[in-house]
Amino acid sequence: MTDGKIGINLTRHIFEKQREYPEATGELTGILNQIAFAAKIVSREVNKAGLVEILGLTGDKNIQGEEVQKLDDFANEVFINILAKSGHFCVLASEEVPDVIPIPDGYISGHYSIAIDPLDGSSNIDVNVNIGTIFSIHRRTSEGEKGCADDLMQAGRKQVAAGYVVYGSSTMLVMSTGNGVHGFTLDPSVGEFLESHPDIQIPSRGKTYSINEGNYPYWSGGVRHYIDHLKKKDKESGTPYGARYIGSMVADMHRTLLKGGIFMYPADNKDPKKPHGKLRLLYECAPMAFLCEHAGGAASTGTGPVLDVVPTELHQRVPFFAGSTEDVRELERFIADYD
Ligand code: AHG
Ligand code: MN
Ligand code: MN
Repeated sequence: MTDGKIGINLTRHIFEKQREYPEATGELTGILNQIAFAAKIVSREVNKAGLVEILGLTGDKNIQGEEVQKLDDFANEVFINILAKSGHFCVLASEEVPDVIPIPDGYISGHYSIAIDPLDGSSNIDVNVNIGTIFSIHRRTSEGEKGCADDLMQAGRKQVAAGYVVYGSSTMLVMSTGNGVHGFTLDPSVGEFLESHPDIQIPSRGKTYSINEGNYPYWSGGVRHYIDHLKKKDKESGTPYGARYIGSMVADMHRTLLKGGIFMYPADNKDPKKPHGKLRLLYECAPMAFLCEHAGGAASTGTGPVLDVVPTELHQRVPFFAGSTEDVRELERFIADYD
């Protein structure tokens, strides 16, 4: 470091903002450090995945009916093992596991619950495109020794912390505990996540939209009209927008948080089994919505805030539109007018 600044790591960041963190018990620092520890291990595998036998499919399918990649399994094992035995959680949920995950016998059942997408963007693993991990943390609500699904199935607005790790040209951890959104970049030479993006703020309007256009014929009228609008030349509304779609929610949302614009995964009628779109509420949409709102942006189901949705199923899916507030509000107007 040139100016003698050693850099602020996760622990220092929370300690220095101690008074701003309502959950500033040592527990939160411990939780985020355990997540960072698991992320470093996954990052190491992701960054050498091209060299070792960790690419490719396991031959299994997960509850979502999707092919399980070896890295999905690896990341799932690492995060569950570290978090379940950390003493901070009473119950876990993972995209890769059908039911809630209890704390193993002999380990402390803690005051929080955590839902994770251990490896987001699986379809991009073998083509060296950014992938990630997403996490969502609630305070436990149940009594008794063991936690249960109720500790996980809470409205997103009640999260005490949420964030993601993006494994790319560098590995970054972006998180919020309700006091701003902060980005930390892994410095592999010291093995620490150092603060690199303090107080991320989403611009009120962007210039790009992010959606899988291959689903155009299957969207509602409101979404189709909105996308058509974004392509028209109109000085006043600043269109046409540019199109950016990576296919890993973490990467598309990371760009949206930093540069603005709107990321969308609408409901579509392509697959009757998925009438509410593809993205899962507990460990994709609610944590990303939490980050968006705390970065000054918005996250909507198209008809209301994602953070107000009370989950009814562990792997429930919701339509998701998130990013710059003005863009999300405009999308909601198109849905109100044309759906
Ligand atoms: P996951 O790999 O955890 O199943 O998530 C993949 C999700 C999300 O990362 C991304 O936004 C979306 O799938 C892309 O879906 P399409 O390929 O249908 O566009
Ligand atoms: Mn995912
Ligand atoms: Mn996943």
